Amino acid sequence: MLKTTGATFLAIATSFFILHFSPPPKSYYHSLFISSSLSDNASISHHLRTLTRRPHVAGSQANAEAASYVLSTLSACNIMAHIVSYDVLLTYPDSRSLTLTPSPSEPPITFDLKQEIYEGDPYADVADEVLPTNHAYAKSGSVVGPVVYVNYRRVEDYGTLKEMGVNVTGTVALARYGEIFRGDIVMNAFEAGAIGALVYTDRKDYGGEGGDAKWFPDDKWMPPSGVQVGTVYNGSGDPTTPGWASSEGCERVSVEEVESSGDVPLIPSMPISGADGETILRSIGGQIAKDNWQGSKDAPTYRVGPGPGVVNLEYNGKQVIATIQNVMGVIEGVEEPDRFVILGNHRDAWTFGAVDPNSGTAALLEVAQRLQKLQRSGWKPRRTIILCNWDAEEYGLTGSTEWVEENRELLASRAVAYLNVDCAVSGAGFHASGTPQLDDLLKLATQQVQDPDNSSQTIYEQWIQSTESSLIGRLGGAGSDYAAFLQHIGVPAADMRFGAGYPVYHSMYDDYTWIENFGDPMFHRNVAVASVWGLVALRLADEEFLPFNYHSYALELQKRAEDLENEMSDKGITFSPLFKSIEELSKAARKINYQKKEIKEAKGWTSMWRNDHVKLRELNDRLMMAERAFTDCDGLLRRPWYKHLIYAPSRHNDYGSTSFPGIDDAIENAKNLNTAESWHVVQHEVWRVARAVKHASLVLDGKLT
Ligand SMILES: *[C@@H]1O[C@H](CO)[C@@H](O)[C@H](O)[C@H]1NC(C)=O
Ligand SMILES: *[C@@H]1O[C@H](CO)[C@@H](O)[C@H](O)[C@H]1NC(C)=O
Ligand SMILES: *[C@@H]1O[C@H](CO)[C@@H](O)[C@H](O)[C@H]1NC(C)=O
Ligand SMILES: *[C@@H]1O[C@H](CO)[C@@H](O)[C@H](O)[C@H]1NC(C)=O
Repeated sequence: MLKTTGATFLAIATSFFILHFSPPPKSYYHSLFISSSLSDNASISHHLRTLTRRPHVAGSQANAEAASYVLSTLSACNIMAHIVSYDVLLTYPDSRSLTLTPSPSEPPITFDLKQEIYEGDPYADVADEVLPTNHAYAKSGSVVGPVVYVNYRRVEDYGTLKEMGVNVTGTVALARYGEIFRGDIVMNAFEAGAIGALVYTDRKDYGGEGGDAKWFPDDKWMPPSGVQVGTVYNGSGDPTTPGWASSEGCERVSVEEVESSGDVPLIPSMPISGADGETILRSIGGQIAKDNWQGSKDAPTYRVGPGPGVVNLEYNGKQVIATIQNVMGVIEGVEEPDRFVILGNHRDAWTFGAVDPNSGTAALLEVAQRLQKLQRSGWKPRRTIILCNWDAEEYGLTGSTEWVEENRELLASRAVAYLNVDCAVSGAGFHASGTPQLDDLLKLATQQVQDPDNSSQTIYEQWIQSTESSLIGRLGGAGSDYAAFLQHIGVPAADMRFGAGYPVYHSMYDDYTWIENFGDPMFHRNVAVASVWGLVALRLADEEFLPFNYHSYALELQKRAEDLENEMSDKGITFSPLFKSIEELSKAARKINYQKKEIKEAKGWTSMWRNDHVKLRELNDRLMMAERAFTDCDGLLRRPWYKHLIYAPSRHNDYGSTSFPGIDDAIENAKNLNTAESWHVVQHEVWRVARAVKHASLVLDGKLT
């Protein structure tokens, strides 16, 4: 055909436009994001090596340099990046000493409190920059007393000692790490009457068992001189600015007020190595400890004491107002710039931080680089994506908490979800926790990504095979930076990683060599974490309808409420208001899922119409805001910062991951007191949760009463 009519030309032009110029669907970009053509294990390993070249504790020059590295990498990805600084109270060790007098007739032993470098250690040149082992925010002071061995120092261990007739008053408690948050170990020791606490790393829990024991660098286990340092502060954020941001020149509470807050222990404590712990254990006589209090096969028999070994523990910390830096990168959404999908990971590390947290920082930078490649091929997000690299997480989730406190209203009205990665990779096996409306999304995303350790299955297939109880964990603990988002302001949140715990945690041996040899030998797990993390974020940022399913939330609450009801069957507590609210939530969830379908089906070309956009937005807002309804402005009893009535730490174990912390605390209290009044408080807490769940169902319904 020589000549074309106008109409044919138009038709050809239209099909050309559709074939060549209409942007591919978002799902095309999402598949591209996780494809091997975009992922890059070499650049991940390069980022990790660079970030972990030196120890970089919060407030140090090295950590400020790491911030610059993250900032420039984000900027190089064409992401608008900036630093948000806060001035916060941190502590560093000033002087420390520990001596043991095994018995009155023996000479005292003074411990050198040093983690040893090994032959060929590539980080020997900077080993001096590792902070001397200590507990952040520990009480300064000097104590002398006979030692009592207290196992993990859980509440039940305290009960066991009481039954054995061991009087802890005036002693120094020797506890092993493992089961509960170290702050609670020290606090429980204080409550039992101890005057000081030492916390050691037992070979039974951190490896190197048996006669031919091997440890890092020959194996993944903690060397005998390795020490797990960490914070003993159990609040969130800068302790001198509880509930508000630590901006320059802001109001601060005094150190005395911090001490009376109940969030810092009131007795000196120190973390020590497995070798030192064992030396002290050999000096403890008295009754033989129970079987499950014993150590590894070749360890000495553990006894509980007190004494005859006497320790002299001296610790002096200095308190410093230091500047910390959060690095923020923003990719503005095109259709809904005022809706935020937030990804976060911290940067500060106790030592080199190869697993904790910079495997996550490397993954964050990998996500940023892949998003840049997507942008180059034409992708633009519907909603705004924010990449956050937090500081001072190790001290008390400080960088993220200050930022959330500063931006509370905007985040509460605009944040869709917060996706956290802390220790991204410490080994094989995927793990995820999250608020239940994200369950379906987490499953879908892991069904799309290949298992890095077995190319013939997906991560999801590996995940369900390796899980005994529930697939997805919940965020009841305050273990990482999701706490402020979820537990303080009620933003749906998730947290994911490969590997569950690792022996050199928070020690000098958490370095690049460890990851390269044991944690993630070819950085394929790190590639996979970046894929799942980024894919979940992309779906949240791009899908017209927020991929939230509150039906899963209702099911989860129903299960947890049934557990509680069974536990409380003989206490005269009624859970019916709670069950009634959950039923309403379930109905509202079904209804909104149906409305979603209706709008979808009515769409087609009409999606161009403004009316549809308004309807869509209104529905999404209900999905986004329903989680906020689980928060209560008064917060938990005597812990007003924790506003979320479903997910928050319970009082006696900050790592605990239960639901309904307020009810849990009230039950714990009532079991101790067993008064009518204390059981009445339990009933009151049940009512409070029931009201919150009811509020959530009203938000989902979107109708005023
Ligand atoms: C424990 O020892 C302290 C001081 O040595 C003493 O005051 C207290 O009465 C003892 N408690 C018990 C239950 O024996
Ligand atoms: C942590 O907070 C809880 C609740 O306020 C408190 O009971 C506990 O003693 C605190 N622990 C420490 C180590 O401060
Ligand atoms: C890899 O996955 C496939 C499919 O699930 C399974 O049959 C096979 O046993 C797995 N291989 C290993 C080494 O685990
Ligand atoms: C990246 O993966 C390839 C195999 O897929 C491997 O040969 C290479 O060594 C890995 N790179 C690094 C830095 O581990």
